[in-house]
Amino acid sequence: MFAWFKKQATLQLPFHTDIHCHLTPGVDDGSQSVEKSVDLMKHMQQWGITRIIPTPHVTEDTYENTPAIIAPAYRALVAGAADAGVDIELLPPSGEYRLDNFFIEQLGKGDVKPLRDSYLLVENSFSVEPWGIDNTLYMLTLRGFRPVLAHPERYVYYHKHLDRYRQLHDSGVLFQCNLMSLGGYYGKDVKFVANKLLEENLIDFLGTDLHGMRHVVFIEDYMKTSHFCRVSDRLKDRILNDRI
Ligand SMILES: [Fe+2]
Repeated sequence: MFAWFKKQATLQLPFHTDIHCHLTPGVDDGSQSVEKSVDLMKHMQQWGITRIIPTPHVTEDTYENTPAIIAPAYRALVAGAADAGVDIELLPPSGEYRLDNFFIEQLGKGDVKPLRDSYLLVENSFSVEPWGIDNTLYMLTLRGFRPVLAHPERYVYYHKHLDRYRQLHDSGVLFQCNLMSLGGYYGKDVKFVANKLLEENLIDFLGTDLHGMRHVVFIEDYMKTSHFCRVSDRLKDRILNDRI
């Protein structure tokens, strides 16, 4: 009985606020229905999550989401979670903004919504570093945003230039690492870099980047490992998730 309780009690994330997940149904490659989103939230609740900021992809050509498109999906999600008795606060939706031409366009229209306060979740292309990224990030700071780079460990073009991480971080960009990267979900190279960022104290936020049940399965397995416990101990007092 005691062993069972101990095992259950350790299945907690080192943060209560998830700032990166794809739960707004039907607007990107994340959950495609309210029912599926609610199922995911029930797992998140067990992990100790009490607040979620939905961050659907906002990407040129692929997911050209605007606040007007995201709003009804968010309202349906809030209603579905309430009906199911899920005790997680759904904060106003933001986005995972790809640094591309659509983003610049949305910025000009005032349609870019920060996570909260001035924190803004942005992502790079996975194939090549965005042209003029330093200028773009600097321009965002001039506009009062604090850029938070989503899963920097997943950009393979930085893997052979690890000094670039320090350079970006020193310029004021905050880093949001995916929990699953630390556990090896995206392969050994991403895992290596994620753990390198951990050692170098370059992780400012953790995120689930939850898209579906396949991620739940991985996270719940990872949470049972000693590696997760070490990561959790190291990050729980450092990361900013619950301070925004
Ligand atoms: Fe994401």
